[in-house]
Amino acid sequence: MEFRTLEHIPVDILLETINKSFADYIFQVRLTPEKLCLKIVSEQIDLAISVGAFADGVLAGFILHGSKVVDNQKNAYNSITGVLPEFRKQKLTVRMYEYIIPVLKEQGYRQIQLEAITSNVPALKSYIEVGFTISRILECYRGKVKQLQSALDENIEITNEWQADNLSWIWDWEPTWQNDVLSIENVKEAITCITYKKDAQIIGYLFFNNITKRVQQFAVAREYRNKHIASRLFNALAHHTGDTDVEIINLQSEVSGAKFLNRIGFELFIKQYEMKLSLA
Ligand SMILES: CC(C)(COP(=O)(O)OP(=O)(O)OC[C@H]1O[C@@H](n2cnc3c(N)ncnc32)[C@H](O)[C@@H]1OP(=O)(O)O)[C@@H](O)C(=O)NCCC(=O)NCCS
Repeated sequence: MEFRTLEHIPVDILLETINKSFADYIFQVRLTPEKLCLKIVSEQIDLAISVGAFADGVLAGFILHGSKVVDNQKNAYNSITGVLPEFRKQKLTVRMYEYIIPVLKEQGYRQIQLEAITSNVPALKSYIEVGFTISRILECYRGKVKQLQSALDENIEITNEWQADNLSWIWDWEPTWQNDVLSIENVKEAITCITYKKDAQIIGYLFFNNITKRVQQFAVAREYRNKHIASRLFNALAHHTGDTDVEIINLQSEVSGAKFLNRIGFELFIKQYEMKLSLA
């Protein structure tokens, strides 16, 4: 088995290996060229810090890493890991990390983070063996948004012209890598923003990705909660999405608003662990 970084990998080989590795996954994952490109751009995946395991030149396993600078610190994100079924049980994930961690350290990375489904035993065993520890429990919801009112509220605006950098005052918790401001801004043309304004100020909002069909952020300012503003935001989303299935992934578990989400049509479908490994 040979290990090397992936900057020279043809995208079609990568796509094929991803889809074959995820063919027996907990739920259906099938990336198209468009979705893989969107993921690479959004999550800032850098193939030069991503790693492949090659058996006689065939890509048998991979870890794709994204890269961001947070608080003057270079952080990496394991965006997707897979090993072809016929190459499993050889600890390839651990061995890929043994290869890539010195490369990341050499380039000044201070941390790697990732998410893994809580029931994915081989993945969790591999990450724990590498040294990752759990930082948060996350919840993922799916459903068709119920249209609770027929009319749009007059304070609601649905727009593709938005700025995310002045909304963090509304948050209770930091979004995960895939849902953070940079990941959303990187694919701005795919995102619709729904806002609720009071006296020209945004006090509630929702970001929806029209390609992945995922709500990437939603929040209502603390002093305006329990006034049905989130219901109005999601009612507007129902107008926008129609009958489409929508996902909201990686909500911090103790503040996810499960009751509210159930009421408007969403069901919890998986829980994930967010995990981190310090390289300092
Ligand atoms: C997760 C994945 C990458 C791990 O592949 P791998 O590196 O070949 O891992 P291994 O098969 O060597 O398994 C690692 C450990 O899990 C154990 N394991 C494997 N399958 C298992 C199962 N079904 N039940 C319990 N333990 C299992 C192995 O015995 C090994 O344990 P050990 O360290 O005690 O020996 C691979 O299973 C995969 O591609 N799965 C589909 C995609 C996926 O889940 N990606 C990760 C998303 S976070």
